[in-house]
Amino acid sequence: MAKITIDVHKCLLCGDCLKVCPTIFFLEEGQIITKEEEHCTLCGHCLAICPAEAITHADLPEGEFLPLRPDSQISPEALYFFLRSRRSCRNFRPQKVPQEVLEKLIDIARYAPTGHNSQNFEFIVIQDKELIQKLAERTAIFFGNLYKMLSAPGLAIPPWLAAHMRGFRLNYEYYQQGKDRIFRNAPALIIIHAPAANVSSAQNCHLAMAHIMLQAQAMGLGTCIIGYFITAAERDPSLIKELEIPKDHKIFTCCTVGYPALVFKKLVPRNPPKVRWF
Ligand SMILES: Cc1cc2nc3c(=O)[nH]c(=O)nc-3n(C[C@H](O)[C@H](O)[C@H](O)COP(=O)(O)O)c2cc1C
Ligand code: SF4
Ligand code: SF4
Repeated sequence: MAKITIDVHKCLLCGDCLKVCPTIFFLEEGQIITKEEEHCTLCGHCLAICPAEAITHADLPEGEFLPLRPDSQISPEALYFFLRSRRSCRNFRPQKVPQEVLEKLIDIARYAPTGHNSQNFEFIVIQDKELIQKLAERTAIFFGNLYKMLSAPGLAIPPWLAAHMRGFRLNYEYYQQGKDRIFRNAPALIIIHAPAANVSSAQNCHLAMAHIMLQAQAMGLGTCIIGYFITAAERDPSLIKELEIPKDHKIFTCCTVGYPALVFKKLVPRNPPKVRWF
């Protein structure tokens, strides 16, 4: 049964739906029709572009097609410096992040682009202090073991790995001293996982995380991607047993979230870009 309907009485024949979705919308005998709707990715472009509200889609809730807000336009200059002012946060105030704030971060992640609009990511939010500590300790132990293994006499390790050895060792030494060098005592973690075999999963998860981090920044929160945890969880799934990640899924990214204890006073430099122009 057709899921997309076009109200011929409302349709202005402007042709915009044909342009945004030329594989499903067609003009035949002076009317807009749809074909092969099974290939619809539910991206919503057709409803969002139609100037006459002539299109409805059984699988897309009309109530969520909100009008554009005039205040949603950010000046290029403001956005540029907002993006430049994001810093990874490794010093958090102990205060909890309110539930509704974390919900807002998850909410905005859904609006990141995804391959074929698959939206195939899932989120885990951890506020349980004990669980965060457990995951931190296991990650630190993982790196302690890795450090020992890679320090075996006669073992040649490549320079890029050698450069990480100090960090591996410190993770474990901090843990031995009762300190958390993994999550830095953050009050919350957000983990994003998705089907391991899907070619878009990595990019989908990373883009969703970028949305989370920037929304968090706008809300006065600090975040930091925790590669140590992502690496350890991938190599030793027993480390994350409580999280019950589906067998065919993989954790692609994880960040800490909390209120920053320190305020950066300056922007920071970056390397000149290596670009090739054609
Ligand atoms: C990893 C990834 C790959 C994508 N590849 C393509 C592509 O090859 N061609 C294309 O037209 N859109 C591509 N997209 C865009 C998605 O189709 C789009 O994000 C999705 O349909 C949702 O629409 P929106 O970005 O307008 O919200 C890609 C998006 C992602 C994240
Ligand atoms: S929701 Fe997207 S893919 Fe589906 S018909 Fe509309 S524009 Fe085409
Ligand atoms: S975008 Fe809307 S008004 Fe324009 S042709 Fe398509 S259905 Fe008709």
